[in-house]
Amino acid sequence: MEWNFNENSKYKIILDGVKEERRADIHSFHRYFGKLIPAIPRTFIEEFTKKGDTVGDLFSGSGTVAVESKLLGRNFIGFEINPLSAFISKVKTTTYDVKKLENFNKEIEVKLYDDIYISKLKKGNIPFCVNLDHWFKPKVIEDLLVIEATIKDVIDKSKLSLKDKESYKDFYFAVISSIIRNVSNADPQHVFPGISKRIRKLESEGKIHKDAKKTFINAIRKRTKYFKNYENIENTNIEIFNGDSVNDDFSKYKNTIDLFVTNPPYISSVRYIETMKLEMYFLEYLKSQDEYSSLAKVMVGNDKVAKKDIDEHILTDYSLINEKIEELRKIDSKQAYIVAKYFIDMEKVIKNMYLMLKDKGKVVVKISESNVKKIKIDTGKFLTLIALNNGFKLLDVFLDKINDNSRSLTTARNTYSDIILNDNIIIWEKDDNE
Ligand SMILES: C[S@@+](CC[C@H](N)C(=O)[O-])C[C@H]1O[C@@H](n2cnc3c(N)ncnc32)[C@H](O)[C@@H]1O
Repeated sequence: MEWNFNENSKYKIILDGVKEERRADIHSFHRYFGKLIPAIPRTFIEEFTKKGDTVGDLFSGSGTVAVESKLLGRNFIGFEINPLSAFISKVKTTTYDVKKLENFNKEIEVKLYDDIYISKLKKGNIPFCVNLDHWFKPKVIEDLLVIEATIKDVIDKSKLSLKDKESYKDFYFAVISSIIRNVSNADPQHVFPGISKRIRKLESEGKIHKDAKKTFINAIRKRTKYFKNYENIENTNIEIFNGDSVNDDFSKYKNTIDLFVTNPPYISSVRYIETMKLEMYFLEYLKSQDEYSSLAKVMVGNDKVAKKDIDEHILTDYSLINEKIEELRKIDSKQAYIVAKYFIDMEKVIKNMYLMLKDKGKVVVKISESNVKKIKIDTGKFLTLIALNNGFKLLDVFLDKINDNSRSLTTARNTYSDIILNDNIIIWEKDDNE
């Protein structure tokens, strides 16, 4: 297989131009480690599809591809294993009536400071959270429960239809999720929740003041404005499902997708749910430690491996990949298992994308090489090897320098996975004649 980074890629030039454009505010709705820069889907959606076409992403995360598809008048079908991520991206792609949100905001703001109203409010129970007291101050928990109850009360008493009530409540709950990290005791600058030395110092100096109500009010005002991004755009069909892109059955979507734009998880890199566990506990997407472990185990690239699995010595169907796995096994058999499992799972995802694509449909993948125990794994090259064996043609591949100010991503990479700071952008095409 020919594998050279194309220095003269026309797509790279176009992408660099699109990166200069201002990104839509709605992308800032919720922090998410490993987010795609919006310029990537924007570039390729414009290049490879027209209005009314359907774009897909089997690792839809916080919905960057979904948002860009909506803004550009395309339909979208996405799958995401993390229920909270699927929820956030659903909210981010809903066309809310900004006036209605503003009216609800005003009502909620007043009620949150009305002591008599609050004393009569029926508040929910404190959600399950491992070490809750370590993560949240009692007043913050109390305020968050008041906020939740106020949202439910205000919207349930409104004149909206039942369906709209649910959808408007979703907006406010997604905003709660977006502020959880900031109102918790964890250091907001860290990828994984943790109470750092910096935070302890600030705390001891009396410089930390957590005010959940104030934070929430600022957040709803700001996020309401983001939905102006959807004023005057055509209505398209945006569907995001909470599903497993490795093991689910996608046959009902056969030949329906024009383009996939996706950034799959990196091998053993960011443990995505760990980064979001406080939000997931608070919004009750995880109700026990067992639920946490079961979800972690089905995530592509995860590092939760049972001893018996490691002893199985699994391999892929590709000798080039297996050489690396064997090399790694001599040093660390758990890591060897993780790498082998990653490519086995990704082959299933590649087959699913092939099935869902129309003929000549394209896949744009953003991925970078990983260093696992100092052994370089050419993830992009290996995924392409698998794609070519499954009916795809390689159209182009080029290097994309990671934006220095994408803090969350670089921190995540540098700290936890030793990933080289250059992304591969790879374009495959479904070729039925292959
Ligand atoms: C790099 S992130 C994608 C980020 C996304 N492009 C965005 O901009 O928000 C990879 C995503 O794959 C998801 N994922 C991992 N395993 C999965 C599986 N088996 N099925 C579906 N999604 C999965 C993770 O939860 C994570 O959100």
